[in-house]
Amino acid sequence: MADPINVLGISGSLRAGSFNSGLLRAAASVLPPNMEMTTFPLHDIPLFNADVEAQGNPAPVTALQQAIGEADGLLFAVPEYNYSITGVLKNAFDWASRGRPSTLDGKPAAIMGVGGRSGTVRAQMHMRQIALHNSMRVMIDPELLLVRSRRRQDPDGNVTDDDLLERLREFMAAFDEWIRHCRVDPTLRFA
Ligand SMILES: Cc1cc2nc3c(=O)[nH]c(=O)nc-3n(C[C@H](O)[C@H](O)[C@H](O)COP(=O)(O)O)c2cc1C
Repeated sequence: MADPINVLGISGSLRAGSFNSGLLRAAASVLPPNMEMTTFPLHDIPLFNADVEAQGNPAPVTALQQAIGEADGLLFAVPEYNYSITGVLKNAFDWASRGRPSTLDGKPAAIMGVGGRSGTVRAQMHMRQIALHNSMRVMIDPELLLVRSRRRQDPDGNVTDDDLLERLREFMAAFDEWIRHCRVDPTLRFA
């Protein structure tokens, strides 16, 4: 029996009907055996301020860093705003990146996203760059870039399309393999 894998899902959207949060929920419904997934909503993370940090991290930031530290892998659902990731997600990254080493250091990650006409390609490229800068091990393949569609997701963001569920199943199986691959030599900074 393979070791259990614990994935933390983070959506870059705060919207109740977010397509990206819906994608995370769907991913959690098609996990491979031995993988578990929880999500961390970013609603309570304050704007990064080094003066606040100097007085001690706010409780939601400590909770975020702890959840990241305990996870075997991070799954990001990345909306695209103005050709990049959302401010909400970048802000969370700015907090999480603090500390030497930070809790992000060496952490396996996977990126997916639903957005406008280009299917979050620019946001995902930026996200990958930010993650690599933080010494994370970002899954290379498969990619999951989706143009938002009422055919695949209902107005609450719930995935209603069997083909997309199947793609998510394959994506999560690949992420499971990627996390196990990264575990082979935990001293490697880049897999
Ligand atoms: C401020 C803002 C900027 C946006 N910029 C882009 C963009 O540059 N490229 C794109 O494909 N979609 C863009 N969109 C559309 C969002 O990606 C789309 O609404 C997506 O569904 C948002 O994610 P969510 O459903 O998870 O909230 C933008 C939306 C907003 C609100």
